[in-house]
Amino acid sequence: MTETHEELCKAASEGSELEVKQMVQAGLDVSEFDSHGMTPLMHAAKNGHASVVSLLLEAGAPWNALDPSGRCAGDYALENEHQDAIDALLNAGIRAELIFGVVERQSSKKSDAKNKVYLEERAEFSEGRLIDEESNAVMMAWENPLMAVHAKVVCSGGGDILNVGFGMGLVDTAIQSYAIAFHTIIEAHPDVYARMLATGWGEKPNVRIIFGRWQDVLPQLGTYDGIFFDTFGEYYEDMREFHESLPRLLKKDGRYSFFNGMCGDNAFFHLVYCQIVKLELAGLGIETEFISLPVRKCLEEETWKGIQHKYWQLETYYVPFCYFADEENKGQIGDN
Ligand SMILES: C[S@@+](CC[C@H](N)C(=O)[O-])C[C@H]1O[C@@H](n2cnc3c(N)ncnc32)[C@H](O)[C@@H]1O
Repeated sequence: MTETHEELCKAASEGSELEVKQMVQAGLDVSEFDSHGMTPLMHAAKNGHASVVSLLLEAGAPWNALDPSGRCAGDYALENEHQDAIDALLNAGIRAELIFGVVERQSSKKSDAKNKVYLEERAEFSEGRLIDEESNAVMMAWENPLMAVHAKVVCSGGGDILNVGFGMGLVDTAIQSYAIAFHTIIEAHPDVYARMLATGWGEKPNVRIIFGRWQDVLPQLGTYDGIFFDTFGEYYEDMREFHESLPRLLKKDGRYSFFNGMCGDNAFFHLVYCQIVKLELAGLGIETEFISLPVRKCLEEETWKGIQHKYWQLETYYVPFCYFADEENKGQIGDN
């Protein structure tokens, strides 16, 4: 880091567009960090200088660079409520990630190795949690209030409900409390499946369990009034692939929701991914609304004791409420 780079950060922080432009034209590296571990883009975002933010982004400043505290430029804009800077960074993030997704899909062969490894390992139920062999949390009891809202969303029209991923059965227990016609559950882990049978899920009159990976059992599925998707050991691309089946699986006036844990450790990355999934679902004719749920109360430091990775660190959880755009579907979710 040079003195001139410190000057670039200072100019970005003060919003001196002309100076920033001159330094960029002189060839200064816009991606470099200063002595505080911040980039010029973070300085501009923190102080709400949207035009400098745009200028730096056009000059190639990385929207997703992180400072030592794990915050990106968008986090600084969010924390300080600088809407124009948020919008500029959000657009840059969405564009970059959409392009990245296309390139990834074209260049690499699909890998489901991570999911297959998880499904071959032991999964263990203990007090309020389901963990894999590496002490990663597959599911935790603190999510109960979240699952209650997901169930409300997908059961709001009654009828036939599909849930992908049983875990601790929280969402399925909530689904059973609604006046639905039929309840199909897909589960791929042998230990989870064994527990489902041991706890009586195989004998419920309106429940059908399909044991297998959702990817493999798709041909066995019908059409549903409500669908919920929440698996483990999969990537965004896998959920995206599941979404491509929604036009076939979801009835015209059906409701869909999914566990919205994407980038659960960074508020701005999470925002970017909420918009990406919304855009991609829109491409399938599906509208997405997000229901805000404050979750701070659900989480205590104790919650994560012995868990490898804190997969959720944000204050608000956004429950997706999805429906076909051409249907008069939105309205109330709590009528059933
Ligand atoms: C996060 S848990 C689901 C939690 C559940 N929503 C609840 O309320 O307890 C994910 C579940 O998906 C299952 N799973 C993982 N990959 C799967 C796949 N490809 N197909 C079907 N189930 C899968 C896991 O074994 C696990 O039981």
